[in-house]
Amino acid sequence: MATNRTLTMIKPEAVAAGHTGKIIDMIIEAGFKVKAMKLTQLSKERAGEFYEVHKERPFYGELVDYMSSGPIVAAVLEKENAVADFRALIGATDPAEAAEGTIRKKFAKSKAENAAHGSDSDDNAEIESNFHFSAKELVG
Ligand code: CMP
Repeated sequence: MATNRTLTMIKPEAVAAGHTGKIIDMIIEAGFKVKAMKLTQLSKERAGEFYEVHKERPFYGELVDYMSSGPIVAAVLEKENAVADFRALIGATDPAEAAEGTIRKKFAKSKAENAAHGSDSDDNAEIESNFHFSAKELVG
């Protein structure tokens, strides 16, 4: 299994606000290679499936409604130490706690509308990449 890939989604509020290009620029500047990318919109059912691990959390309903509310950009990113390095680049879940220079510090509006998702483990990176992309859609 690849240990150098992660899956991101640029979330609906960031896409709607026109931040997609700036966020992709930050990702490339940080040394990630884009292996696959698409503009898509999740149904409530698909958003629920993606975040199933959070099903028992109080914010699950809000999260599913929000993530299906508009277009997102999903991408598979490659870099040495991709999962940890990408989580450092996006910053803390709560933008109030995100470090200066991170994607969430610059673009997130709240804990829910937090600009970008990043996989939290190599195993989940693989699962989440397969959720959005078929093997044929990955370059290289
Ligand atoms: P993400 O990295 O996509 O993974 C799970 C998501 O749940 C997280 O980003 C947030 O968007 C959302 N989330 C986590 N905690 C909260 C919270 N307390 N309230 C609302 N949404 C949350």
